[in-house]
Amino acid sequence: MTISPNVVRHRAAVIRSRRETQNGHMSVNLWFTGLSGSGKSTLAHAVEERLHLMGCRTYVFDGDNVRHGLCGDLGFSLDDRSENLRRIAHMVHLFLDAGVISLTAFISPLHADRQRVKEIIGEENLIEVYCKCPLEVCEERDVKGLYKKARKGEIKNYTGISSPYEPPTSPDIVLKTDEQSLNECVKIVIKELKERGIIL
Ligand code: ADX
Repeated sequence: MTISPNVVRHRAAVIRSRRETQNGHMSVNLWFTGLSGSGKSTLAHAVEERLHLMGCRTYVFDGDNVRHGLCGDLGFSLDDRSENLRRIAHMVHLFLDAGVISLTAFISPLHADRQRVKEIIGEENLIEVYCKCPLEVCEERDVKGLYKKARKGEIKNYTGISSPYEPPTSPDIVLKTDEQSLNECVKIVIKELKERGIIL
């Protein structure tokens, strides 16, 4: 992590553990990775809905939203994606301290970038969820019409078409979004959170 010179951290009295006690659950990050159209956002929001109804403090960071603001200056070269994910990881780190269960939906295509994200967030604070869905299915869905544009060459560096996606080697959870229903997938994630003692 880069340390800024001449900036001294202020020690807060209201710290993560106090917030967690008040919330009645632990903070954690659910990091959804997968191709565009693999269901990351849909899943993140569906899990959030379930957690919200259970009274948990939650927040979804979604590539499609964050890229309009915080990361609006970034494109889709591998360097820009790397910077996109670095910023999000630091944001997630703050949200952990805030006692929140954050859910992040980013393609995060490269192993090295996901590794760095884990280092920033802390591996013990992150649950990696691989939304596994064949490219053909994502392309068939083409919810935003971007695969079609990528095939025609109208969009450069499109993940799965003209830019790489490296599947995670040991994700905590694998969701086969073309075979399992949304409800089944949500149940699997909630079960994991319970087993880890993050929620009751
Ligand atoms: S990441 O690679 O940096 O993790 P991120 O998740 O933020 O990507 O953004 C992906 C979203 O941006 C996709 O869901 C898609 O809607 C849009 N997008 C626009 N151009 C591209 C591109 N070249 N490759 C992938 N996604 C793109």
